[in-house]
Amino acid sequence: MEGSEKNRDESRRTLSSIVTSGRVTNVVHLFIVAFAVYMLYLSFSGTIEFFTWHPILMSVGWTLLLTEGILILNRDNNVLKNIIGSNRILYHWILQALALILSIIGVWIAFQNKLNKSKAHFKSWHGLFGLLGFIFAILSGLNGVLTLYNRELKDYYSPKLNKFVHVVLGTLAYLFGGLSAILSVYTKWFEWRTHSDDIVFGILLFFIISTVIWTLVKPINSVSDRFRQLISIG
Ligand code: HEM
Repeated sequence: MEGSEKNRDESRRTLSSIVTSGRVTNVVHLFIVAFAVYMLYLSFSGTIEFFTWHPILMSVGWTLLLTEGILILNRDNNVLKNIIGSNRILYHWILQALALILSIIGVWIAFQNKLNKSKAHFKSWHGLFGLLGFIFAILSGLNGVLTLYNRELKDYYSPKLNKFVHVVLGTLAYLFGGLSAILSVYTKWFEWRTHSDDIVFGILLFFIISTVIWTLVKPINSVSDRFRQLISIG
């Protein structure tokens, strides 16, 4: 009797944590879209130079598509549930592939812009974290191709180890790229385009910090779960 009540309590708690988590994810979708749209507005509201394509491509590629590509794996992500159905993995890799293509061009533009102006590279924390996030994202993408063929490759490479490596690389990519996205509101470009507006700065900083923290919760849990699985097998 006591046992069944405890079970009911447990499942009620699980259900309410899924509902809460789903609601937070819904709010985070709004933050992501608002951040990306405002960055686009800032980019298109002034002169569009070669460099302007860096924030444009990174806001769409990194902030919008890459984040949504991670959140799509959350079972409590209600927004696209009906459209996507059980195809989460397919949409995950399509979104990540698009995000990577835009980010490769976006980072190249920032790099080439420095070359054109004969300036030193990766001198800011934004540039340094961005480079780290970008490298981990490329490695995670390459490893993701192996993860897609997990079944076919199982005799050569343990699928569990493969998935663990994929989740670790992806989490590091999002962590460092996320830090870079947070620091993007501290750049001179942002200061000029917003005319040093403290309110816009505060709101966008809040949106991007909340997005990065919430998006990282599940991947970090997944790294620790998969690590425990790995060592319990070994
Ligand atoms: C979303 C809005 C973004 C804005 C407004 C922005 C803005 C800037 C600015 C002004 C620079 C030149 C100054 C500096 O080196 O700090 C820069 C460089 C750079 N950004 Fe961004 N950025 C954004 C997003 C990102 C993201 C998400 C990443 C990576 C994941 C990234 C990666 C880089 C890299 C690697 C450089 C350095 C290039 C070099 O030094 O050669 N950026 N960005």
